[in-house]
Amino acid sequence: MTEDHYLREKIRQTLATDPHVGILNVRVQIEGKRIILYGEVSSPEKGEYARMVVQRQLPDFEVISELTPPIPPEAPPPEGPYVRIAAAGDLHYDALSRGKLRSHFQKLEGEADLLLLAGDLTDTGTAEEAAVLVEDLKELPIPIVAVLGNHDYHCNQVKEVHRLLEEAGVTVLEGDSTVVHCRELSIGIAGTKGFAGGFEGACGTVFGEPEMKHFIAHTEKVSSRLKETLLSLETDLKIALLHYAPIRETLAGERAEVFPFLGSYLLGKAIDEAGADLVVHGHAHHGRERGMTRGGIPVRNAAIPMLKKANLFYSLSPRAKKTHS
Ligand SMILES: [Fe+2]
Ligand SMILES: [Fe+2]
Repeated sequence: MTEDHYLREKIRQTLATDPHVGILNVRVQIEGKRIILYGEVSSPEKGEYARMVVQRQLPDFEVISELTPPIPPEAPPPEGPYVRIAAAGDLHYDALSRGKLRSHFQKLEGEADLLLLAGDLTDTGTAEEAAVLVEDLKELPIPIVAVLGNHDYHCNQVKEVHRLLEEAGVTVLEGDSTVVHCRELSIGIAGTKGFAGGFEGACGTVFGEPEMKHFIAHTEKVSSRLKETLLSLETDLKIALLHYAPIRETLAGERAEVFPFLGSYLLGKAIDEAGADLVVHGHAHHGRERGMTRGGIPVRNAAIPMLKKANLFYSLSPRAKKTHS
């Protein structure tokens, strides 16, 4: 048993037995002199109280709370028209991945009307890796809409990767949109890889060195483009498809230090300003699946390494404006 293990158990016990906290199932991450608490609490105030309890107990540590209220349970699919969406991100296909997800893709026939791929389709962004993925996707009888991820840019073969996917019938979006018609509904999908920068209270700004200005200016540019694209859609349903995360909620489980490299609040702000019915992203391999923008739009992290399954399924209805997964 390590020292960290004892410390974790001590914290869990404190939080479970404190009469004003009483939280079970808290995940405690210890990073040097920093302690991060993950889990669900009934209110933000209770999360802050739990943090203070641990801070008082361990004054030599910096205690951070990532305890968040649970996302409300979702209702069963409504009556009336709805669309069934399958989503997957972070496939990370390499040259040896042939067949890796083929059986999962084939099962989608009859189960989903549309497949969304949320970036990091390849491991290092080579045409060879894209060709392996395309083999597994081919003959899928439902529309496939994708954005690329940071890994797809690594080897500077983006045009080739893009071309191979498009030739296989995959619609690849970057700062633009497409409309799919399924089950009497029109579904507009605005897609962008997005970019990094961080979240409110811990984000980069257009200030200082030119490199920093370029970094954040790029995030501002793609976010503003995403907003314009969503606003231009006149469809029954609107979906924002990203690789980078638009909210910090779906990053819970990742090290706090990397949050600024996993997404930006500017993406979430753009989506709230334009409106959408669903946001799907990837990139956060150790995050969590469900979250919500500040404006109440459902956000789903579809990263396969985090989900430990190949696809997420949602039903979207224009009447209820809710997702059901
Ligand atoms: Fe990834
Ligand atoms: Fe990524």
